[in-house]
Amino acid sequence: MTYKQEIIDFYNARTNYDNEATLNRAIALFDYATPCPGQSVLDVATGTGNIALKAAQKVDTSGSVIGIDIATELLKIAQQKIKAQNLSNVELIEVDAQAYDPEPDKFDAIYCSYAIVLFPNIPKILENWYRCLKFGGFIAFTCSSENSYLALSIVKACAKNGITLPNLHEPLGTPERIQHLLTQAKFNQIEIHPRQMGTYLSLEKAQSRWNGQFWLHTDNPLRQLKPEKICLLKASYDDEIAALETEQGVWYEELIYYVVARKA
Ligand SMILES: C[S@@+](CC[C@H](N)C(=O)[O-])C[C@H]1O[C@@H](n2cnc3c(N)ncnc32)[C@H](O)[C@@H]1O
Repeated sequence: MTYKQEIIDFYNARTNYDNEATLNRAIALFDYATPCPGQSVLDVATGTGNIALKAAQKVDTSGSVIGIDIATELLKIAQQKIKAQNLSNVELIEVDAQAYDPEPDKFDAIYCSYAIVLFPNIPKILENWYRCLKFGGFIAFTCSSENSYLALSIVKACAKNGITLPNLHEPLGTPERIQHLLTQAKFNQIEIHPRQMGTYLSLEKAQSRWNGQFWLHTDNPLRQLKPEKICLLKASYDDEIAALETEQGVWYEELIYYVVARKA
């Protein structure tokens, strides 16, 4: 199965995606950058349309919003919400964000919530966003620290078993790397706003957050492994997590960077 198909299947199966947490963490991007009435907005990887719908209210009927995604089932949910809210200024397009090629200088704002790390070529996607953004426009996206979701423990457990698992959150996992990639793509006025949403978990719960098999990375070597090998990795992961236990439990980092950058 191709990487793209894996992503499509994974998100098409998540028709229960919407809840208070997924809505709030996405629309928090508007705390840092908001479009004005009359403006033109692109929501990349719109999913169930949480950002697109909010943006549509903000740009009003004189403005317009395009939401793009590859998960048909999530787009159907977004479409239902658009209909229920009677919004006439949102268009949804089923297209791979990496192949989407709008005319230059088209958008005043480009949003991408909880998705940028899923694009295998981040410099290329940033370059494309820069190209189709108007001068004076902004991009706003979220990414996670490299150790969010216990990622480094999963990577370490794999390494102990001779498996190199690329860390999905590595390329944009520190403020320095975010700054570097955005500068390379010619963006300026870069703002990085960290929000810590982590919590302490019981040992059992932290050990159950083994998501190595759902690591949606283009080069995930775990796909090819036999169940017995996966069991060995899981055992190493449990050891890693046990070593992190404190009196309060195991710290489960969820450090989200809310990033805004401009073409100015
Ligand atoms: C975690 S969800 C985020 C959805 C939405 N942005 C939000 O925050 O509520 C990730 C989304 O990225 C989409 N996605 C992943 N790769 C994509 C690609 N190459 N092109 C378009 N959408 C993609 C998935 O289909 C899914 O809807």
